[in-house]
Amino acid sequence: MRKKLFLVLLCALLLCGCAGREEVDVPELILRYADNQPEGYPTTLAAHYFADLVEEETDGRIRIRVFADGELGDEISVYQQVQFGGIDFARISVGTLGEFLPESDVLQLPYLFTDAEHMWRVLDGEIGDEFLSKIESTGVHGLSWFDAGARNIYTRTPVHTLEDLSGMTIRVQESDFMSRLVELWGATPVQIPYSGVYSALQTGKIDGAENNWPSYESSGHFTVAPYYLLDQHFRLPEIQFAGEIAMEKVRAVDESYVDVILRCAKESARYERELWQEREAASEELIRSHGCVVTELSPAEQKKFRDAVQPMYEGYGPEMRDLIERIRNS
Ligand code: GCU
Repeated sequence: MRKKLFLVLLCALLLCGCAGREEVDVPELILRYADNQPEGYPTTLAAHYFADLVEEETDGRIRIRVFADGELGDEISVYQQVQFGGIDFARISVGTLGEFLPESDVLQLPYLFTDAEHMWRVLDGEIGDEFLSKIESTGVHGLSWFDAGARNIYTRTPVHTLEDLSGMTIRVQESDFMSRLVELWGATPVQIPYSGVYSALQTGKIDGAENNWPSYESSGHFTVAPYYLLDQHFRLPEIQFAGEIAMEKVRAVDESYVDVILRCAKESARYERELWQEREAASEELIRSHGCVVTELSPAEQKKFRDAVQPMYEGYGPEMRDLIERIRNS
């Protein structure tokens, strides 16, 4: 009798336990995504969107955790970590890409694209696809192109003309190609990762830097370098990519998920481009209302900026000259 009672109690306890336990939703694969922009910025919002799409389309079997604000490191180190499988996905500026795929520097030739439409014709066409495939030689899989608008110069003290830049120290990305541009302006380049620019400006280690409206605003650089010169030297896109190792991990869960990643990446890029338009306008408004001095260049002054950097188009072999021509004619 006692034994029976014991069994009944045991069953009841087990049943209660089962009913009380919440269903745990454990993905088969958790992947990491790095971005050096803060939460709420168009690129990181698009990264979350990408993560949500992938989770939905793989029925929760793959989850992507987004690390914003450079939490996983600066862009050079992030790229290396993606190559070696420590990070699975990332979004970086094409300025950094040149350090791994020197050929891609051609995309950051100053004044290469006449406007945004021209850039998208190139990146969404054959040339953009060719670059996404070429990147595979560096151990990463190119997924999509993000918008990052046009970049302008900003400084701690007033700058209105090319001559005003002479002798100034201007921060550039960790890119010798960008350093060359600044030298041609008659200034001294200093390569500093994005995360170090604010304090370098604040302490006066550098006189200025260059970036698009949303970066100038979200980084707070406008508060320490309030002179923004609209020279629009670069229209520098950004790239979203995956490690080959990450893609292998995805394939191991389900062969068809590789396509899911590719599709969701394209979808997230479309979303980023929409967000970019809104953020660019909002950042510009905020910066102007803060009282920053925004200088438009006269056509004559704009020409001086263009002429100064013409040597960047020289010295290329026939293959690259051909590519530049194709870009120009797109
Ligand atoms: C932009 C870009 C960043 C990049 C930065 C830079 O803000 O979005 O990815 O790091 O430029 O100038 O370093």
